[in-house]
Amino acid sequence: MTGTETSPTPDLSVNLAGMVMKNPVMTASGTSGYGPEYSPYLDITSLGAFVTKAVTVAERKGNPQPRTVETPGGMLNAIGLANAGLEDFLTEKVPYLSELGIPVIVNVAGHDAEEFATVCRALDEVPCITGLELNVSCPNVSDGLDYGSDAARLEPLVARVRKDVRRAKLIVKLSPNVTDISAMAQAAVNGGAEILSLINTLGGMAINVDTFKPMLANVTGGLSGPAIRPVAVRLVHKVYTEVAREAGVPIIGMGGIANWRDAAEFHLAGAAAIAVGTATFVDPTVLNQICDGLSKYLTRKGLHSIGDLVGQVRT
Ligand SMILES: Cc1cc2nc3c(=O)[nH]c(=O)nc-3n(C[C@H](O)[C@H](O)[C@H](O)COP(=O)(O)O)c2cc1C
Repeated sequence: MTGTETSPTPDLSVNLAGMVMKNPVMTASGTSGYGPEYSPYLDITSLGAFVTKAVTVAERKGNPQPRTVETPGGMLNAIGLANAGLEDFLTEKVPYLSELGIPVIVNVAGHDAEEFATVCRALDEVPCITGLELNVSCPNVSDGLDYGSDAARLEPLVARVRKDVRRAKLIVKLSPNVTDISAMAQAAVNGGAEILSLINTLGGMAINVDTFKPMLANVTGGLSGPAIRPVAVRLVHKVYTEVAREAGVPIIGMGGIANWRDAAEFHLAGAAAIAVGTATFVDPTVLNQICDGLSKYLTRKGLHSIGDLVGQVRT
């Protein structure tokens, strides 16, 4: 098949370990709140899935301001997992999310395994929540990377949460700030992760040379946006070829995706689905544009589905 005007419309739907999405495009955690903040700018129900900002047991105020700064080809953030806590999420945010009718993934953070488990146990009881994404990769809180940078701690953490999660898909979000991301991916899979998501932000710092002060009150932050895309593509390809393909664990790829070409690159590297964060600050409709672009790209290539792209880079 060569891809002509008469070709059937390609199938953009993807199935991530049983989580069925009508297209492979979702928000990246922390960049579009809990939904209502984003809904004036984009029909959220058009997305393959919606991913919330982090939820922790207790309210967290986050880091002091300023906590974002623009950098070449991206931005640094040090939000510090600010959120209103589990109870507020259940009473204030879930009613909106339960009306969406698309898969909802909640990003979960905690100081220790019990806190992760407490949040996940409660959210597993909420029918509209399709996936739980364990954020073991936040560079902006003091203990954010304790689990995500140590395979010997990550596996028991995931296994502990696994015991309490019976229904929702368990996703582990990996950090690029490690020596061997595949070791972390393997630990997550051994612990019971059904899906891997990567990458979280890269540790970074910017200094105001007039005042000699760091641009972020937290001193350091996490770098996101187009500047990190080649790093993210490499790590998705590494995790796909070294761990995920053989384990049959799908990857949600992210890091600097700003258009359909970037998305296609991640699929070719091994991502079954993709998430977009920083680029939505420039244009919230970019997620819909990516879907349209991917559909036309598949047609031009004579391919039938997103699955035909996954991991197909010719190395
Ligand atoms: C302002 C901001 C807040 C973020 N908050 C979270 C968060 O709460 N949990 C998380 O796992 N990742 C968080 N991230 C990381 C993103 O989900 C994503 O992994 C990263 O930004 C790379 O994607 P991007 O280049 O498309 O933004 C945040 C990123 C930004 C820019």
